[in-house]
Amino acid sequence: MRDPDIGEILVQKDALEHRVKQLGTEISRDYAGRNPLLVGVLKGAVFFLSDLMRRIEIPCEVDFMAVASYGSSTDSSGVVRILKDLDTTIEGRDVLIVEDIVDSGLTLHYLLRSLGAREPASLEVCALLVKPERRKVDLPIRYVGFEIPNRFAIGYGLDHAEQHRNLPYVAALQSR
Ligand code: IMP
Ligand code: MG
Repeated sequence: MRDPDIGEILVQKDALEHRVKQLGTEISRDYAGRNPLLVGVLKGAVFFLSDLMRRIEIPCEVDFMAVASYGSSTDSSGVVRILKDLDTTIEGRDVLIVEDIVDSGLTLHYLLRSLGAREPASLEVCALLVKPERRKVDLPIRYVGFEIPNRFAIGYGLDHAEQHRNLPYVAALQSR
């Protein structure tokens, strides 16, 4: 039986695969000869990042950060605490932040400030999903997978109370 938490499908599995492949090709072309460092934001971005990285056809490296954003479970406050920092210094590196979803943009805004202060050679963002209607701060997002409507999304790494990250597609959380 289908889980009652899972609502309408927002991005099908095939569409995810197709778009991730396109993004990998684009990133490979843009970063040719530069050995970029992909920075995944735990935990949600891990799924997208691991698929994306296998579609990148140039030398590249990976590291992770974990951040906690204060606020309710569905609204971030913009006050962010670093739980796990990068293992390496990024001075002079070409850094690409890989995010699962940009909602208000407040978390990413903080990350861009924090990493930008470490003087990387370049700093860009690749987000699988963005919710344009919810954006509170204007941010430069170089690569976007899909724009989605203002619904709480689950699947392909995105969770609700830690559940549903394992879905192979992105769905809306069913409101009851
Ligand atoms: P922001 O700071 O409002 O942009 O939200 C950032 C974080 O909130 C994301 O990295 C996600 O972890 C989480 N988040 C925002 N919207 C959703 C959603 O629709 N589903 C699951 N997690 C979300
Ligand atoms: Mg996240």
